[in-house]
Amino acid sequence: MSAPLLQLSDVTKSFGGIKALSGLSCEVRQGQIVGVIGPNGAGKTTLFNVITGAYRANSGDVNFDRQPITHWRPYRIARAGAVRTFQNIRLFSSMTVWEHLLVAQPGRGALWRRALPTRWADGAAIARAEEVLEFFGLKDVRNQIARSLSYGTQRKVEMARALTANPRLLLLDEPVAGMNHDEAEDIRRLMLRLRDGGLTILLIEHDMGFVMNLCDYLYVLDFGVLIAKGLPAEIQSDPIVMDAYLGKEA
Ligand SMILES: Nc1ncnc2c1ncn2[C@@H]1O[C@H](COP(=O)(O)OP(=O)(O)OP(=O)(O)O)[C@@H](O)[C@H]1O
Ligand SMILES: [Mg+2]
Repeated sequence: MSAPLLQLSDVTKSFGGIKALSGLSCEVRQGQIVGVIGPNGAGKTTLFNVITGAYRANSGDVNFDRQPITHWRPYRIARAGAVRTFQNIRLFSSMTVWEHLLVAQPGRGALWRRALPTRWADGAAIARAEEVLEFFGLKDVRNQIARSLSYGTQRKVEMARALTANPRLLLLDEPVAGMNHDEAEDIRRLMLRLRDGGLTILLIEHDMGFVMNLCDYLYVLDFGVLIAKGLPAEIQSDPIVMDAYLGKEA
């Protein structure tokens, strides 16, 4: 079998006395949608922060696309193709949807040019932004200030912005949090289309129905420890998971 696109080996990340990640090993295969679940404080977002270089692991290795990225800076990891969204939406306060789709594209020249995206974007950037806008069904709101939109639509803008960077691995931190059922179902279908187009996705999500109907493989964290991994059907019926995760939910 081919090498995994992303591989973590024995990664530990501590904050003072708290081990947010404790000897975690996991991998994401090319072309799969892999889910990370677990109760609040399990270490899920910390995992994303370590992968994308926001936090540095205390020990262990992170490999992406056969390269050791453990000590790389965030911009370099993003350029290598691992691009994330945030659990708490992070959109620019005065930018339209359209501007958000131009600003995140790599290799678009000097910073001062990228600060005026609509003025300086080149043909390829505009074409990519149009494609992503269409894909997410955001055409009607393209000229609206992104932050003025509904919560669900803002989440879509965040995902769309991440996609304009042409990632090889898309990392989504609770992409359907706060969305109603129909909005989440819309996102689920879009994610499946992206996967079928060859994109690899790693996502964190509390919505069990969403995760079980979308992911090819799941990892379950609890207090920074990997307590289970497997196919959704296996995880769903795993008593350890029910105890740690579903038990607390209930
Ligand atoms: N920057 C930080 N400084 C100190 N402690 C942190 C920091 N980031 C995370 N932690 C701690 O690490 C643990 C894991 O947090 P993390 O945010 O990764 O959990 P999570 O699984 O994403 O939870 P949630 O489902 O609530 O988003 C928690 O105990 C948290 O308080
Ligand atoms: Mg989190």
